[in-house]
Amino acid sequence: MGVSGCGKTTIGKQLSAVLKIPFFDGDDFHSEANVTKMASGTPLTDEDRLPWLASINTFAKQQASSVIIACSALKKKYRSCLSQDVHSRFIWLDGSFELIHKRMKSRDPHFMPPALLQSQFDTLEISAECVPINIDQSTEKITTEIVKAINKKDIGIIGMGVMGKNLARNMARKGLAVSLYNRRVEGKEENIAADIAQQYPEFESAAAFEDLPAFVESLAIPRKILIMVPAGAAVNQVIDQLKTTCQKGDVIIDGGNSFFRDTETRYTALQKLGIEFVGVGVSGGEAGALDGPAIMPACSEEAYAQVGPILEHIAAKNSLGQICCQHIGTGGSGHFVKMIHNGIEYAEMQIIAETYDILKATGKNNLDIAAVFDSWLAEQGYGSYLLEITTKILRTKDEEGYILDRILDQASNKGTGARTSIEGIQLGIPFNIISSALHARFMSSVKAQRQKVNAQFNTTINKFSIDLHNLKEAYHSARLLNHIQGFEYLKAAARQYKWELDLSTIAQIWTGGCIIRSDMMFEMRELLQQTDNIILDDSITLQLIQTKEQLVQVCTKAIQAELPIPTLTACLNYLHGITQARSSANLIQAQRDFFGAHTYKLTEDPTGPSHHTNWETL
Ligand code: 6PG
Repeated sequence: MGVSGCGKTTIGKQLSAVLKIPFFDGDDFHSEANVTKMASGTPLTDEDRLPWLASINTFAKQQASSVIIACSALKKKYRSCLSQDVHSRFIWLDGSFELIHKRMKSRDPHFMPPALLQSQFDTLEISAECVPINIDQSTEKITTEIVKAINKKDIGIIGMGVMGKNLARNMARKGLAVSLYNRRVEGKEENIAADIAQQYPEFESAAAFEDLPAFVESLAIPRKILIMVPAGAAVNQVIDQLKTTCQKGDVIIDGGNSFFRDTETRYTALQKLGIEFVGVGVSGGEAGALDGPAIMPACSEEAYAQVGPILEHIAAKNSLGQICCQHIGTGGSGHFVKMIHNGIEYAEMQIIAETYDILKATGKNNLDIAAVFDSWLAEQGYGSYLLEITTKILRTKDEEGYILDRILDQASNKGTGARTSIEGIQLGIPFNIISSALHARFMSSVKAQRQKVNAQFNTTINKFSIDLHNLKEAYHSARLLNHIQGFEYLKAAARQYKWELDLSTIAQIWTGGCIIRSDMMFEMRELLQQTDNIILDDSITLQLIQTKEQLVQVCTKAIQAELPIPTLTACLNYLHGITQARSSANLIQAQRDFFGAHTYKLTEDPTGPSHHTNWETL
């Protein structure tokens, strides 16, 4: 790329000979009208150029392997057009007006007259993706520098754990040139990146490192580096090391489950160094990382222009072909949204677990339960990744029988659900459904105590029957309430942290690739385009009214059978709570005022003065 006269065709042909990659001159794609216009000394407009650029992009997309194309590509939006769905590298032949003007006057006849050179310089916009090559040197030296530059990798991935490795494999499979890095810990982690590069054919042209400066040096400028190491101190350590080698304009991406406040701090600190920081929520586990995760990136517009195309390129697409990666916002909002994803996930998992428990208590075995869930999955609106994997789990046997029946009933967690609960407390919003699922895991962790108390109380679950239709409706209602609460939580956070969160976009990201992908999430995406108060939407109100009785009946039967159903009842309590116009909180206020003189408002004057009553003297 570069202004007319900078030597694109000459260098392009030289490069083609050296790299044995076909060369094409972008000028050959101009329409007759454009050529005539330029020959008449009239500069082209955007309207003239965009169809020309689109024709070059179409040509590039049709190529089965790399090509070299000479094209002025003067503006950032021109380069965006050229690189649409094409993995591209922009080599900018950089020279002074004087040098180029002199060359233009001595070159073979060309439809671009020297008089237009100034308009080219006036139009030229250089941005981070332009790799500068000084043209005030021999074509051989220019070509050598370019070869060196294009052998740089598009993106580097630090941390060859399951997620880092699979994201790197995903990128390599999509045609990106990657550098892999894993630290060296004598006796524990040695040659990890090199071994992985050897292991997978998609890494044929990948570079592998244990030396971080060499890894950084291997990357095309502006460097894009994805950190996939455990959240917390490890991320800080890596960033501190990168600070010494990265430069202004480089982009560091954290794709782990980092705490959003940590991301905010890192974002601010790196911005001061001119280094872009992208906090990315990645969902979909091992398989998602490899085949297409849901990606929730937060960063500046400039940083997204650099890494957004790569993240969108490797992200999942939902069943409508929509990409499950969109620019969420800035700072820690990407990691925050991922945290809420995990909060909703915990509750979704617990709702299924309690439903499984109820079905077991009615005497059904794993195969029966799997059959019930399969019948639900066959219904529009009930499809969900978590329910699908549950039916597979229920049916999985080995020589000793059902694996599920041998798994210790103590659920652990890596902390994302806990953080969602802590933040919910900070925000002071209803999030009882998510927290009930977290507490269910905590309850499961006191297994020894549960066994003792069970013996002490001689507790048995009384077998009971349940109407399967009611159970299905109760299950659906609980899930709906979980989603409603989850999006209400996001709204409260957006207000608190002044994030411009587009809830429909977030729902779209969650319709593919992630753990909570489901038919219901598509419904959320549609709804959130019309309203951000889901429960007041008539169709949702109707669904909740029509299934409330079933939720009550299922909870009642399970409670009578002494079956713990913390999340199903949390959903029902949320529904009862959010639909109760007048609650018993007036008594709480009175008690607080009685013993602490904390005062209270009056119902008929909620924004008026606070009142105190001397309860003892009246
Ligand atoms: C995802 C998952 C993932 C999660 C692990 C462990 O979206 O891919 O949510 O990010 O961290 O599955 O989660 P817990 O240990 O907190 O259950």
